[in-house]
Amino acid sequence: MQPLYKGKHFVTLQEWDVSQIEKLLDVSAELKEKFHNNEVTDFLKNKTSFLMFFEQSTRTRNSMEAGIAQLGGHANFLDTSTMQISHGETGKDTAVILSSYGHAIACRNCNWQEGNQFIREMADNATVPVMNLQCDLYHPMQGLADLMTIRETKPDTKNLKVSIIWAYATSHKKPISVPLTQTLLFPRFGMDVVLAHPEGYELPDWAIEKAKTLAEQNGGTFTVTHDMDEAFKDADVVIPKNWGNWSGKQTDVNLDNLLEANRDWKCTEERMALAKDDVIYMHALPADRGNEVEDSVIDGERSVVYQEAENRLHTAKAVMALTMGDK
Ligand code: CP
Repeated sequence: MQPLYKGKHFVTLQEWDVSQIEKLLDVSAELKEKFHNNEVTDFLKNKTSFLMFFEQSTRTRNSMEAGIAQLGGHANFLDTSTMQISHGETGKDTAVILSSYGHAIACRNCNWQEGNQFIREMADNATVPVMNLQCDLYHPMQGLADLMTIRETKPDTKNLKVSIIWAYATSHKKPISVPLTQTLLFPRFGMDVVLAHPEGYELPDWAIEKAKTLAEQNGGTFTVTHDMDEAFKDADVVIPKNWGNWSGKQTDVNLDNLLEANRDWKCTEERMALAKDDVIYMHALPADRGNEVEDSVIDGERSVVYQEAENRLHTAKAVMALTMGDK
C-alpha cells in the first residue's frame, strides 16, 4: 500500500480519476483474495472510523464495520438521532470534534437537498478522510462495488451495453443516488450506457449532459429512453431499480398516480430474454421482490446480486485502507 491517498475524501467518484479508481479496484481485488484465504490484513491497526447514519442500512453499515475490524481497526456506529446533530449541532463542529478522536468519518445522509451538503460541510472541516455512505445525490461505495462486479464478469467494458433502468417499487421513496452515480461512472469506462425510465423520473439535466460528454470522451455512448424493452434488448448488463421522482415532487411520499401508472416497469423473465444470453442482472439491494423484479430473475442464473453485495465489503476496505492507511 502506498500512502498516496492518505487523507483523500471519498465523497463522489468524480473526485477520483480513472487511474485512482483502478487503484481502488486493484486493492479491492487483493483484499478479496486475502479475505477468502483467511490472511491477516491489519493495515489499520488501532485506527478508528466513525460511522454516522441518518437512515437504515444493511450492506453499507456491515461492510464498513466488518471491513475495518478485518483491517485491524474499530468502527464507532453512530445513529445520528442520538447525536447532538438532532439538536442542531453543525456538520462543521461534528467533523472537527470527531477528527480529533479518530481517523475517518463516514456518513449516510439521504435527505433531499441536504445530505450531500452536510457531508461536504464535514469534508471541508475534517482533518481526517470523510467517506460518503450514500447521500441524496451519490452512492460512491455502491458505484465502486458495481464496477468491480461488472469487471469480474465482463473484464472488457468497452462498448458493453449497460442499462440503468427504473423499476416499480412501493417499499419506500428511494434516492436517485445509485442511478446518478452509475450514470456518471460507467461512461468513463467506455460503456454504451442506456438510461431508461418513465416520464417524470428524470435524473438532473446536468448529469445527463455530463454523462454524454464522458461517453464521447471515452469511446462509448449515453442514451436516454422511455422504453423499458429497448433497454433490455441486446444488453450485456441490466440494472433495473426503483428511484423516486425527486425533481418533480420533493417529499418522502412515494405512492402516487405517477408511480401507479408505471406498475409494468418490472424486470421479468420475458424482458431478460430480450438481452444477450450472457446478460447479468444487477441490483444494489434491498430489492422490492415481486414489484421491481420477479423472484425467478433475481434468484436465477443471470443474477449477480450476492456477488455485488459481497463486493461492498472488499471495496469499502479498499477505500478505508487507501485513505486511512500509513503503508
Ligand atoms: N445497497 C445499499 O447501500 O444497501 P444498504 O442500504 O443496506 O446499506
